[in-house]
Amino acid sequence: MQYPEFKNKHIISTKDLTKKELGVILDTAVRMDTVVQTQGFSAVLPNSLIAMLFLEPSTRTRLSFEAAAQRLGAHTVSVSDAGSSSAAKGETLADMVRVVAGYADCIVLRQPYQGQARMAADCIDIPLLNAGDGKGQHPTQALLDLYTIRKELGRLDSLKISLVGDLKYGRTVHSLCYALMPFTPQLTLCAPPELGLPRDILDDLKNHNIRCTLTSKLEEALQADVIYMTRIQRERFSDKSEYEKLKGSFVLTRELVLRGNKDIVIMHPLPRVDEISEDVDGLARAAYFRQAHNGMYVRMALLALVLGGDIP
Ligand code: CP
Repeated sequence: MQYPEFKNKHIISTKDLTKKELGVILDTAVRMDTVVQTQGFSAVLPNSLIAMLFLEPSTRTRLSFEAAAQRLGAHTVSVSDAGSSSAAKGETLADMVRVVAGYADCIVLRQPYQGQARMAADCIDIPLLNAGDGKGQHPTQALLDLYTIRKELGRLDSLKISLVGDLKYGRTVHSLCYALMPFTPQLTLCAPPELGLPRDILDDLKNHNIRCTLTSKLEEALQADVIYMTRIQRERFSDKSEYEKLKGSFVLTRELVLRGNKDIVIMHPLPRVDEISEDVDGLARAAYFRQAHNGMYVRMALLALVLGGDIP
């Protein structure tokens, strides 16, 4: 099966994806999940070469993309830190992607500046997947988050979802807000006043009639179908004393979980620092490691779709 409408498509922001496109990506990821469980590999992209340009640290995104490519029979070349590339000599991102586009069939890019993934995509004529652009977007994470919610709860429509932690700089939250919009969730936005959701995203949610409740009480966030915890991100603060003041704002413990909705699904894009205690890990509803594993299926789906592979 092929989806020509996805071929050569850049994946920069979840704001650009329709409900129908989200459905195709999630359904393709289900097929990839089955492929891996039954065969391990499938030669969907045997003649493709994918460049992984990671100019900021990553474990999950980079390795799950590399694993996804290899499980589809594709080859990879990679930069795993800015210091080992010619970015350290002052090469611009535009020049870097123009050069790499001559070597590869697709680029997966993580770099620290909001908006630069779109700028880079505009410089090349092969598909570019945004693997995180600073405090902007992380669309492939939001897609695996949707996949996880649907797999855990069996549906996406009209869920109560709490987003907790650093909603200001948290690119996974920004992408998830737009990915959830077509499914009309009720959102509880739980953050310290200094780390609230950016005004433009809040306005977009309101313009789409998404009910948003703002709170700074973690207990309120536990009255939901899904709680999505996030890390307070030290690397995004220019004033480190501000980070020291806000770190540890929310810590989800087993005791707190057991006082909330008994069926709540607990998610986190990871890595975590201290915002979920390890005593939560053993609860059946702690879904964050399953969520990380789902990333590979969703990234297999995205690579197969944008490179025009024949979906098994
Ligand atoms: N969730 C996520 O993006 O993790 P990494 O930073 O390890 O890629």
